[in-house]
Amino acid sequence: MEQLLFILAIELVVIAFVVWIAWSGVVGAPWLPTPKKRVRSMLEFAKVTSDDILYDLGSGDGRIIIMAAKEFGAQSIGIEVDPLRLWWSRRSIRRHNLSQKVEVIRANFFKVSVEDATIVTLYQGYKINKKIRDKLASELKPGARVVSYRFILEEWTPSETNEEESIYLYIV
Ligand SMILES: C[S@@+](CC[C@H](N)C(=O)[O-])C[C@H]1O[C@@H](n2cnc3c(N)ncnc32)[C@H](O)[C@@H]1O
Repeated sequence: MEQLLFILAIELVVIAFVVWIAWSGVVGAPWLPTPKKRVRSMLEFAKVTSDDILYDLGSGDGRIIIMAAKEFGAQSIGIEVDPLRLWWSRRSIRRHNLSQKVEVIRANFFKVSVEDATIVTLYQGYKINKKIRDKLASELKPGARVVSYRFILEEWTPSETNEEESIYLYIV
């Protein structure tokens, strides 16, 4: 009986861990990193400078926020729900000595205001982008740029498109 309870407890822990890790796929896109070459193209496309405050919605391993700060001088904030990516991205930020310029918030990005952003980057999905578009429309200041990788923001007209690399730039 004790052995059975022990096995049951282990199973419950494993199930809880899997749900914990897979949660990002429920509230948005699962982790799939943007290739670094594309990250650079996105940041160049949006003309990121040291005057910018950049938010990456679903920041994964932190590659966008780290490059935005390191190569373009922007203040960068990532919002990430997956605890493993969050841990990894914080580790990379420390490794690059960027703790003054880059931070990651563990949260569902729908629950965090991005009203101070001058640039928002995202790599999510068609369906969730509709919800994101409404959030951005209500929070961003006029002139803010939104760069989406692979998926458009329906009903918004991109101010520029890089078809070859699937990068869409919008100006609010
Ligand atoms: C396709 S990956 C992109 C990661 C990173 N932005 C990049 O381009 O390499 C999507 C990320 O969004 C995260 N995510 C999905 N829904 C989210 C939500 N509602 N709030 C915070 N993070 C979310 C996932 O955990 C995943 O790391």
